[in-house]
Amino acid sequence: MDHFVKLGLLLLLLIGIGNAFTDKSFDQCESLVKNWKSSSLLADVKEDKRVLKHLLFFLHVPRTGGRTYYHCFLRNLYPSSVVCPRSYDKLRFNRSKTDCRLLTSHDDYSVMSKLPSDRTSVVTLLRNPVDRFFSSYEFSMEVAARFMMYPNLTSAIGLPNSKNITAKPVTTLDIWPWKYLVPWMRADMFARKEARKHKGSADSQSSDLYNAEDFVMPLIEYIHHPIALDIIHNGATFQVAGLTNNSNLRGSHELRHCVIKYPSLGDHVLEVAKKRLDNMLYVGLTESHNESASLFANLVGAQVISQLLESNSSTELAANNKSDSKFNSKFNASLHQNISSHQKEVEVRSIYNVQRTNKTMKQMTVEGLHEAFKECVPKLRKVQTTRRNNSFENIPSLNFRKEARLRVPETILREIASLNSLDVQLFKHAQYIFANEHKHMVQKGLKISYRYLFDGPSWKNISLDVPSWKTLPLTTVGMLFIFVFLLVSARRTKLKLKS
Ligand SMILES: *[C@@H]1O[C@H](CO)[C@@H](O)[C@H](O)[C@H]1NC(C)=O
Ligand SMILES: *[C@@H]1O[C@H](CO)[C@@H](O)[C@H](O)[C@H]1NC(C)=O
Ligand SMILES: *[C@@H]1O[C@H](CO)[C@@H](O)[C@H](O)[C@H]1NC(C)=O
Ligand SMILES: *[C@@H]1O[C@H](CO)[C@@H](O)[C@H](O)[C@H]1NC(C)=O
Ligand SMILES: *[C@@H]1O[C@H](CO)[C@@H](O)[C@H](O)[C@H]1NC(C)=O
Ligand SMILES: *[C@@H]1O[C@H](CO)[C@@H](O)[C@H](O)[C@H]1NC(C)=O
Ligand SMILES: *[C@@H]1O[C@H](CO)[C@@H](O)[C@H](O)[C@H]1NC(C)=O
Ligand SMILES: *[C@@H]1O[C@H](CO)[C@@H](O)[C@H](O)[C@H]1NC(C)=O
Ligand SMILES: *[C@@H]1O[C@H](CO)[C@@H](O)[C@H](O)[C@H]1NC(C)=O
Ligand SMILES: *[C@@H]1O[C@H](CO)[C@@H](O)[C@H](O)[C@H]1NC(C)=O
Ligand SMILES: *[C@@H]1O[C@H](CO)[C@@H](O)[C@H](O)[C@H]1NC(C)=O
Ligand SMILES: *[C@@H]1O[C@H](CO)[C@@H](O)[C@H](O)[C@H]1NC(C)=O
Repeated sequence: MDHFVKLGLLLLLLIGIGNAFTDKSFDQCESLVKNWKSSSLLADVKEDKRVLKHLLFFLHVPRTGGRTYYHCFLRNLYPSSVVCPRSYDKLRFNRSKTDCRLLTSHDDYSVMSKLPSDRTSVVTLLRNPVDRFFSSYEFSMEVAARFMMYPNLTSAIGLPNSKNITAKPVTTLDIWPWKYLVPWMRADMFARKEARKHKGSADSQSSDLYNAEDFVMPLIEYIHHPIALDIIHNGATFQVAGLTNNSNLRGSHELRHCVIKYPSLGDHVLEVAKKRLDNMLYVGLTESHNESASLFANLVGAQVISQLLESNSSTELAANNKSDSKFNSKFNASLHQNISSHQKEVEVRSIYNVQRTNKTMKQMTVEGLHEAFKECVPKLRKVQTTRRNNSFENIPSLNFRKEARLRVPETILREIASLNSLDVQLFKHAQYIFANEHKHMVQKGLKISYRYLFDGPSWKNISLDVPSWKTLPLTTVGMLFIFVFLLVSARRTKLKLKS
């Protein structure tokens, strides 16, 4: 009996100690998060954020359309010789080329500690968090579905390991967060395939894409899964704060887990993320596609062009002409090749190099850059659609279409929004920054602009806290006109007074 009591006490003690290591109390978490916040806010002081620095870091938040910017803008601007290499095993920044000028990655903001931060400008794109969530679900499924092509594979075990492909191009499986999300989905899909076989039911086609439980994890289950909580929800805020699952910061996982456990601490993270957006050279909005492109060309493109022309070393001026054929021929190969067996899983990164302008840097103008972008985007989208169609060849009922999203009940949308409340607030802040920057550009005289300020509502008018796209455009346009009008008349009055 005595022994049992002692043993029990010992056990309790051990559990207590164990908990102290894994489960931090609120107070411990709060002080951790606050310390991190004050050191982060201290470190980020930028005097002139609108001036392009030596290195451009494109912080690519997954599922925001960043690839379009990379392939249709940045790759037309920066010659390969100045693009930073990355260590592809983890897609982390590779410091071997210290003088490079363009870094694009899913790395979070913590990678700044490895960059010359006073000589680095950061740009990013943000997207309505609910749309981004749907897109993450659909994309992890799309890539996982590519593996269902193997006719006699019944489980995810035994699939060719992407690390094992020689002369390997970068595949989605190398890239955070897909390197976690895709294998997870893939294993789940194989398990459901097995279950279908045992049940003996023919592959019936599901009518509801988001609840096709015979084929794939239903949306509602995905939403509440711990992996989604850790990696997807509030992912934009964690990425800008530098606290993702992929962070370079020591202690980032403790911090993130604290914030997930005690949601009230999220405000501190949000504060840091907002401040960082404020200091960025450019913040685009996925939804305002045309406007964001116009601002990018005017604000970032124009400066890259003049900067690269100024530093007219010969290598840099040999811009992206046709002889930069490594990409073109790879693209050609990946398009025409009859992708078989495990090639299907390999997404040759250069498949996206659909369009490089012929122009050398000397001929490049802001307008030319923008024209090339407009030509490039539809081609890129077509490549992506084809690939998606191919992925779902055997399970066409899972080929997501926008109409299906319209049938998702409002309660689920609200739930997603509330699980992403930090991202919802960050997105609102981004909208505010974007409107201001746009105003600033209009005052300076946009080289290219659009008739419509915003592209209109996204796929559904979810009445989140996020202002509806239907009301925003009108009021913003209105205020802009009033502002410009006041400015002009004020100048006139001043001139009259002087003369
Ligand atoms: C870093 O990039 C260089 C080429 O620029 C390459 O040789 C090297 O292997 C890369 N390092 C890693 C860890 O990938
Ligand atoms: C897969 O199926 C093909 C033919 O359908 C067969 O030749 C091959 O041996 C099978 N592979 C495995 C691992 O069962
Ligand atoms: C691929 O991986 C297997 C085991 O996982 C290993 O035996 C084989 O040598 C690897 N092949 C290459 C080319 O690295
Ligand atoms: C990141 O998340 C994945 C999936 O939840 C997990 O397997 C992995 O261990 C995590 N990595 C770190 C460094 O926490
Ligand atoms: C650019 O190149 C021209 C001619 O090659 C040279 O005269 C000029 O000094 C260079 N400018 C800079 C900033 O290097
Ligand atoms: C392309 O660049 C190469 C040098 O990299 C140069 O020799 C060639 O003349 C250029 N071609 C065009 C069409 O500008
Ligand atoms: C593209 O691929 C096709 C078919 O493989 C080949 O005939 C053509 O020469 C290739 N073009 C280039 C520019 O490599
Ligand atoms: C791909 O393969 C299919 C059937 O194997 C064939 O009909 C088609 O012509 C091939 N496409 C190309 C571009 O080789
Ligand atoms: C590239 O050059 C060719 C011929 O010089 C021209 O026909 C084509 O339209 C150009 N493409 C772009 C994107 O400027
Ligand atoms: C993809 O599939 C849809 C319908 O299944 C079809 O309408 C569309 O044209 C396809 N797109 C491409 C680029 O293959
Ligand atoms: C955005 O631009 C594209 C082509 O540049 C055009 O087709 C489309 O109508 C534009 N959208 C809006 C809302 O202006
Ligand atoms: C969008 O919201 C407005 C007002 O809240 C409503 O009248 C309209 O029917 C909604 N549209 C859709 C497609 O739900």
